[in-house]
Amino acid sequence: MQSHSSDTIQQLSRQLSSERLADNLALLLQNFPGRVVFSTSFSYEDQVITHLLASHELPVGIFTLDTGRLFPETYAVWSRTVEKYGIRIKAFYPDAQSLESFITAEGPNAFYHSVDNRKACCHIRKVEPLRRALSGNRVWITGLRAEHSAGRSHLSPLEWDETNQVIKYHPLLNWTTTEVKEYINRHAVPYNPLHDRGFVSIGCAPCTRAIREGEDFRAGRWWWEDSSKKECGLHER
Ligand code: ADX
Ligand code: SF4
Repeated sequence: MQSHSSDTIQQLSRQLSSERLADNLALLLQNFPGRVVFSTSFSYEDQVITHLLASHELPVGIFTLDTGRLFPETYAVWSRTVEKYGIRIKAFYPDAQSLESFITAEGPNAFYHSVDNRKACCHIRKVEPLRRALSGNRVWITGLRAEHSAGRSHLSPLEWDETNQVIKYHPLLNWTTTEVKEYINRHAVPYNPLHDRGFVSIGCAPCTRAIREGEDFRAGRWWWEDSSKKECGLHER
């Protein structure tokens, strides 16, 4: 699959435009009809992508991973998005049995006790539901940006995800934070009000805090951990 996919990725990469994102999305849909999906966490970036998909009526399946521990503000922006655009966002949930066993054994806030527990929680609440969400699909669109972290700064807009056996596409990879904010304002896109209160990268409520001036973009995620371990497994390669 890998070599076949790298040819496809090379071919598609040559046809991508850095400006006309809607055309790029249409190109992927033409190549993989009915098998292109987008994961949203309702972040600034994800809201830009949802706006693009909805305003161009691009038939990309939109899904979210509801970990059960999201902020009330995230549920509010999820509702506003569905209402404003008249779209469906498919919700994926953790496997009930795995979650029950884990919480019974380790307690509800086990992620603060060890990195292993934190990773186990992310696995149950995000990584395994993501596998289900991607299964049978060929392209996974994300809101990753190079500015987010050192690990993300070397990504290509199109890449092969060996774990999930899909092509990943990051349409906003090279956008700056200012460009994202300008787009949101210009198009009156609904966004998570936590972004106005110092939260830049927003995940689950118990694992996300606001950041201070000068701190790294992802400093507010799993802030009690060593910064080299700060990925939840969704985008690990
Ligand atoms: S994470 O790996 O640290 O959690 P981050 O919050 O930076 O990821 O988001 C990067 C991209 O991952 C988002 O643009 C989105 O595509 C996807 N993503 C992250 N969390 C979720 C979620 N709960 N549901 C759906 N997609 C998500
Ligand atoms: Fe669990 Fe925190 Fe990971 Fe959410 S971010 S899945 S609460 S460890």
